[in-house]
Amino acid sequence: MKAVVYERYGTPEVLEMKNIQKPVPKENEILIKIYATTVTAADWRLRKADPFLARLFNGLFRPKKVKVLGLDLAGVVEETGNKVKSFKKGDAVFAFCGFNFGAYAEYKCLPENQVISLKPSNMSFEEAATVPTGGLTALGFLKKAGIKKGQDLLIYGASGSVGTFAVQLGKYFGARVTAVCSTANMNLVQLLGADRVIDYTKQDYTKLESRFDIVFDAVGKTSKSAGKHLLKPGGKYVSVKGSPGFRPGDLHVLKGLFESGDLKTVIDRRYPLEQIREAHAYAETLRKKGNVVIHILPDTEKIQTP
Ligand SMILES: NC(=O)c1ccc[n+]([C@@H]2O[C@H](COP(=O)([O-])OP(=O)(O)OC[C@H]3O[C@@H](n4cnc5c(N)ncnc54)[C@H](OP(=O)(O)O)[C@@H]3O)[C@@H](O)[C@H]2O)c1
Repeated sequence: MKAVVYERYGTPEVLEMKNIQKPVPKENEILIKIYATTVTAADWRLRKADPFLARLFNGLFRPKKVKVLGLDLAGVVEETGNKVKSFKKGDAVFAFCGFNFGAYAEYKCLPENQVISLKPSNMSFEEAATVPTGGLTALGFLKKAGIKKGQDLLIYGASGSVGTFAVQLGKYFGARVTAVCSTANMNLVQLLGADRVIDYTKQDYTKLESRFDIVFDAVGKTSKSAGKHLLKPGGKYVSVKGSPGFRPGDLHVLKGLFESGDLKTVIDRRYPLEQIREAHAYAETLRKKGNVVIHILPDTEKIQTP
């Protein structure tokens, strides 16, 4: 099968299209024909081994454990192992591949008890592929902070993948959302439902007089010490620099929220798998709005934009 392989750490040029062996599902696994994947921060960071400690996970001198990146996928079940009960051939699914990555390819095997769900019926494969990493991370951190109706939530870095899902989830949970982003993204986060938008290029959010039940750094560019005075007594600070602690069932929860219209995804750019280097170079600028999607098979379904 066709796959994007990397054999050394470095710039996007280390990503190469190759033919590798098509995987065969074990008895508890499903084989998914991949229609679309994404470029997440984890993909480009692991490609360049940033931070350096990533090498402890994936090989000190060169990539060993993961040679095919790609955390998110959407596609169709092509084959099932003989003990698989939850999925059948032909099911349209979306999934988070976890730390084995491997979605930059035509096929991927995943154990059926991993983070896999039927694809939301109102989303194209491209749209669905954007959901797992960003959506699960946003949901995981908001749940970890104990989000409740009527709370005041500040989201720093509201325009990236995690941020755009966090703004919408914050509204879904009934919070009043203050979103912090740059001038160019103010309109976007307002459209996503933010009650108040702070342009960090014009105003220092740490000097706000308002106080919040939750401060969520969705981009990992602030610190607890910088924002802790913004918290109400008992308020919680959470950051993507920690662990979101989501559960496999959370992807099913997100499916329901897309189908009910409570969530939408933001797609900034689309690339074919053959242009994965360009896609990585763009995602790495840290300027993407929402998500960068990679199509592997043509997807003719309707694309939604907010
Ligand atoms: N802990 C976990 O499990 C986990 C999971 C997923 C992601 N992450 C981490 O979370 C971070 C965000 O991921 P992502 O996929 O959402 O990133 P992303 O989509 O690449 O974020 C891009 C956005 O970040 C904003 N941004 C860049 N620098 C900023 C700054 N100094 N202040 C405020 N906003 C800034 C940009 O908006 P402007 O142009 O408006 O600045 C842009 O819209 C990454 O570092 C990733 O590694 C962690």
